[in-house]
Amino acid sequence: MSPESTFYVTTPIYYVNGRPHIGHAYTTIAADMAARWHRLKGDNVFFLTGTDEHGQKVLEKAVERGMSPQEHVDDMVQHWKASFGKLEIQYDRFMRTTDADHIANVTSVLTHLHEKGLFYKAEYTGWYHVGDEIFVTEKDIEEGKYDRSELSEISESNWWFKMSAYQQQLLDKINSEPDFIQPEGRRNEVLGFLNTKTLTDLCISRPKSRMSWGIELPFDDEFVTYVWFDALLNYLTGTGYTADGTGTPPSGFDSWTDLWPANFQIIGKDILTTHAIYWMTMLMALEVPLPKTLFAHGWWVSSDGQKMGKRHGNTIDIDLLVQEFGVDAVRYFFLREIRFGNDGAFSYDGFMARYNADLANDLGNLAHRAISMTTNWLGGVVPEYEAAVANEDELKVLATQVVKTYNESIDAMRFDTALEALWELVKAGNKYIDTSEPWKLNREGDLAKLRTAKRVVLEICYLAATLLMPVIPNKSRELLTNLGRNEFAAKDYLKLLVSGAPVGLDALPAGIPLTYGDPLFPRHKELPQAIQKLFEAPKVEEKAAEPEPEVKLSKRQRKEAERAERKAKELAYQQPIDVDHFKHVQLRAGIILSAEAHPNADKLLVVQVDIGEDEPRQIVAGIATKFSPDEVVGKKVVVVSNLQPANLRGVESQGMILAAGATDVVDLVSVDAEPGEVVR
Ligand code: MSP
Repeated sequence: MSPESTFYVTTPIYYVNGRPHIGHAYTTIAADMAARWHRLKGDNVFFLTGTDEHGQKVLEKAVERGMSPQEHVDDMVQHWKASFGKLEIQYDRFMRTTDADHIANVTSVLTHLHEKGLFYKAEYTGWYHVGDEIFVTEKDIEEGKYDRSELSEISESNWWFKMSAYQQQLLDKINSEPDFIQPEGRRNEVLGFLNTKTLTDLCISRPKSRMSWGIELPFDDEFVTYVWFDALLNYLTGTGYTADGTGTPPSGFDSWTDLWPANFQIIGKDILTTHAIYWMTMLMALEVPLPKTLFAHGWWVSSDGQKMGKRHGNTIDIDLLVQEFGVDAVRYFFLREIRFGNDGAFSYDGFMARYNADLANDLGNLAHRAISMTTNWLGGVVPEYEAAVANEDELKVLATQVVKTYNESIDAMRFDTALEALWELVKAGNKYIDTSEPWKLNREGDLAKLRTAKRVVLEICYLAATLLMPVIPNKSRELLTNLGRNEFAAKDYLKLLVSGAPVGLDALPAGIPLTYGDPLFPRHKELPQAIQKLFEAPKVEEKAAEPEPEVKLSKRQRKEAERAERKAKELAYQQPIDVDHFKHVQLRAGIILSAEAHPNADKLLVVQVDIGEDEPRQIVAGIATKFSPDEVVGKKVVVVSNLQPANLRGVESQGMILAAGATDVVDLVSVDAEPGEVVR
């Protein structure tokens, strides 16, 4: 197997002293995105994630739960696997540090390094932080990194790794390879540390008398291995490496050297030192090459700037988020919202805004308009390219540029840049619908132009669905199906796209039938206050899933308000007006071109109506209790056309559609006349 075609990506392995939250989900989704992308491009991918199951923290949690450590980790790992399933994480191996092959690997490495004379035993007296499983120096306390009240003073004999011997070698490596530690800020941080501080040796054991939950040292049975020394080695275990050469590589690979050095090791910035220094010096001691890139991303922080995590009690339950918005929206948000490497604030409003603007409005709308108009006016099959209508050539140039940026950005882990570029094309597609005015072409019977106009937007949808396969796998599949394509066809298309050939926007076979499915991303209604609060600042993660009582209360209040509103309307209808009042009302015939649910109100639809003007009118109509968006597209209606524009729950309405029914809508008023005809 040629090493060029393999792509090995890892995440940290997560502690099983709690359930997964958005921080863990973030790293894992990013790695999954990279793994899926490389699989689609035809690389032989290996994606490793898993759980870190030894050490004091995990032991303490087991004791707290009244379980043996093994029972506790076996139970917890189920939650992690289930959450990763819900997030559509397609890992190749889920590593557990209690797995037999991992224990064998750690044991072989310890024996090997011990035989090489790289370990020694010495007495240590000082401070220890249980939460971080780390020895703390007086300097760390002076610099405010740790509070003395969180530390225990211990005095014990331990085994040490001669880490200090590798300071210069590590400095040289980082200095000579600018891409080795990314992003640049993190690289500078490590360089700053190595240039100004003297590396100490690393304690690699814990006496069993204090903490017995770990891998026993093969050369001293009174000790277990320090949890970090054990955990970091998982990245090699996953390849089948053992220091004595007896390991088995994963299926599909001939040797551990097919996989190692890893292409990308993704971590959060909180564990930069353990990876950039402990891990790299361990590899140097083993005389194993270092990974190609260590990428440390930033943190999701709460609105007050605190890192989200178990320690601060401000985590957001990932299952709850997926339940409310769907996995595709969650994955998209994480990858699009912040630059990979930077910190970002997580908020309910931010999430809603991104969802409604990018997914419901831009992408969802494009797909809906492309497929519904083709279905209504062109028999629901992919049309041939015929006469030019507007800026089709420009769009092809833009698409070529977008594909290039997308490909390069994902290879460099710049997911936000990739998606931003793709959205330029999605937005250009929506704009093209406005400028090509297919409703006019349809009205005028210019089928040659109408076919081109529809073909172009269907092609943009196909290109977007293809490139989005690793980001929003389910919705992308749904869109491909609606376009009469499947993932195999899309995979071939993706390979063609990333080959660098100019994009012709002509990949769909003409004549294949389309499916007019449900909206891809229904506009998200405002969630009840009680649920919004859970997104902002839940107190503890386990409690986050219990919003019931407050939700019920606000529903009742809403019902009361609705009753009062209905009564007021009925009274208004009973007041007489004189004829002049009515003469001021301008009524026109129209046809509904497209419709979608209102983002913030159940009963409203947002429709685009052709009333014979240059541009369709956007009207917010209270007809959603009777009609779904799909049911009204193509309906002939009567529009009050001289109303002042109004903002209805955040969406501009430029008129009103006449309907029958004083309170609940019974039907729409319809006249058989050309759009724009005056109704008197
Ligand atoms: N078990 C160690 C890692 C050993 S790797 C050989 C560990 N586990 S952890 O459960 O604490 O997970 C830490 C990782 O979770 C971070 O490096 C990061 O990838 C992710 N995140 C946890 N909270 C986070 C945020 N608030 N924001 C983004 N990611 C963060 O450390």
